Amino acid sequence: MPSISRRAVITPASPIRKLVPFADAATKQGVKIYHLNIGQPDIKSPPKFLKAIRSYPKSVVAYENSLGNPKLRLGLASYYHGVGIPADPENIIVTTGGSEAILFAILATCDPGDELLVFEPTYANYLGFAAMAAVSLRAITTRAETGFHLPRPDVIKRHITSNTKAIIINNPNNPTGTLYTPSELAMVNNLAIKHELFVISDETYREFAYERTLPKSLLTYGKTPRHVILVDSFSKRYSLCGARLGCLVTYNQKILESVTKFAQARLASPSVEQYAAVEALKTQTSYFAKVNREYKKRRNVLIRALQKIPGVFVQKPEGAFYCVARLPVKNAEAFAKWLLTDFRDRGETVMLAPADGFYLSKNHGKDEVRIAYVLNSRALARSVEIIKKALAIYRKKNTTKHS
Ligand SMILES: Cc1ncc(COP(=O)(O)O)c(C=O)c1O
Repeated sequence: MPSISRRAVITPASPIRKLVPFADAATKQGVKIYHLNIGQPDIKSPPKFLKAIRSYPKSVVAYENSLGNPKLRLGLASYYHGVGIPADPENIIVTTGGSEAILFAILATCDPGDELLVFEPTYANYLGFAAMAAVSLRAITTRAETGFHLPRPDVIKRHITSNTKAIIINNPNNPTGTLYTPSELAMVNNLAIKHELFVISDETYREFAYERTLPKSLLTYGKTPRHVILVDSFSKRYSLCGARLGCLVTYNQKILESVTKFAQARLASPSVEQYAAVEALKTQTSYFAKVNREYKKRRNVLIRALQKIPGVFVQKPEGAFYCVARLPVKNAEAFAKWLLTDFRDRGETVMLAPADGFYLSKNHGKDEVRIAYVLNSRALARSVEIIKKALAIYRKKNTTKHS
């Protein structure tokens, strides 16, 4: 029997889905689970998008243009102009989700064996994409105490080697919810310029910023910067996770030519969804304002309640819809598993994402969980009540066991 590739072996499974078999078993027993483990928003997709999907006029669902539906690229250019990013349709390539844009950006900038800098805790799928591309991720740790903000430039600089080709940064951040300041972004940009690195800027959560106006895009540092590749997604912005649409935006002609070849090799992104996404782009800004108010309310409910639990440490995140909380347990994964296998409060429990899977460094995040606040405020308040009760019992149980 031939052996499978090393890349297949080293590609990690999603840490978010690791506990799914235990959740499935609990559901089969009739237990109600509050899912705080996954970033699937419950916000309704834009009615204009749904209407367009339902009235798709063509009789053949044909391949779309490899670079994307021309009307969609035009619409995206107008969206970017609206958020202060002067990108033209020629700078934009539509992808099958932001996920494909990330993979294309890594493939276009890094050869096998090259290094890609990443801040940890990180969006876990970067690990998978880097493994697929045979690229080494080098992690720069950010810490709960400093709200997961970026370390000083000399700390970042220490991680740059002769093999470093690019740095990937996600703002607002999944999993931490951190919104980097304009000066932090400028610092990263200056380091990238000085050390001749590409910046892959993942701005999937651009609109989800609760304390300030829209975060500054790295594509707006300097006039048409050629070292920056913006990767973006329709999934969260328009609550269209299943439409599988995203895009890559850059002023770098060579990157555009390379990604065009990748895009041609995979033929096209979904035609019907692109057709309807033209309509999604017409969504009024009042939609985002309403969605933001809702998420801000949820965040406040969640964080206030979490901060009241003895031994829990969490800072108020400023963006996206996640936070990383430190729990008073040694092993957050064991606790999260126990919640699913053993703990019930009035027939209900909670599913959390253990945070160690969001770190590359060994033994980091062992006592942390990522929480996505994609449930309504009542469900969030109930979830935290369950976590509080569960922690009290779990800690007692484990202290007794060890005494
Ligand atoms: C930071 C970040 N980047 C990219 C993506 C990928 O999004 P898409 O659904 O468009 O592939 C996600 C999805 O959760 C994300 O959180």
